[in-house]
Amino acid sequence: MGDYSLKESLSIWEANAEYWDDYMGDESNDFHRYVVCPKVTELLDIKDGDFILDISCGNGNYSAFMSQRGAKVVAFDYSPKMIELAKKRRAQFLDKIEFVVADATNEKQLNNLQRNSKYTKAVSNMAVMDIVEIDTLFKCVNRLLCDDGIFVFATQHPCFVTLTDKYLTPHAYYDIAIPNQPKKQCYYHRSMQDIFNTCFKNGFVIDGFYEEKYGEKEKPDIIVVRAKKIKDMR
Ligand SMILES: C[S@@+](CC[C@H](N)C(=O)[O-])C[C@H]1O[C@@H](n2cnc3c(N)ncnc32)[C@H](O)[C@@H]1O
Repeated sequence: MGDYSLKESLSIWEANAEYWDDYMGDESNDFHRYVVCPKVTELLDIKDGDFILDISCGNGNYSAFMSQRGAKVVAFDYSPKMIELAKKRRAQFLDKIEFVVADATNEKQLNNLQRNSKYTKAVSNMAVMDIVEIDTLFKCVNRLLCDDGIFVFATQHPCFVTLTDKYLTPHAYYDIAIPNQPKKQCYYHRSMQDIFNTCFKNGFVIDGFYEEKYGEKEKPDIIVVRAKKIKDMR
């Protein structure tokens, strides 16, 4: 088996990119449409004229959704293959979406996402659990956002979705996100307090929160968090 490193996780996403794009297509899957999208969209409250950073955008499904609602979007992913496919699939939106290859763990690459104006909002759908280290991301998103800017993210529910017995201790494991994907990807488990404290430590308060589920059951699959910037990180 591998080592759960950034290099390894990137090589897995490069290998899975084409399959992911084919499987998700233009409209993404039911899990995204019915579990992720509604509450993310409620908390993000996309307005005409918003300037939004889409973090780990995959094939750009949510970037297109936001651009159709009047937002200008910068969307990034560390997989060059995924970005190439996103540009192709979202060709009709390229006047409103700028797709960029950037690594969410790399401070310099994140700083390079700065444009003429600050972002009003940032969003990340189902990627926080795929990113090997998240402290850098939260710090840089704080700097990229305007005063009172918000960062909405949906990620796996750390209490109910994991393949291991561990909860408090951060750890990694391999699993799939969609059936028959070519390679199992690296998941990085963090407890709820670790996720929340990453927000607090990096100048955010949490002012919106949901736990969502797929189908009829009691245990939620994901958390949807709205973090609001309340102070500048240097
Ligand atoms: C489960 S997919 C979600 C994609 C998209 N947000 C969606 O909802 O369809 C996770 C994405 O995170 C990206 N990713 C993982 N680690 C990353 C990192 N360090 N920097 C940028 N993107 C990363 C992967 O390439 C993949 O596209």
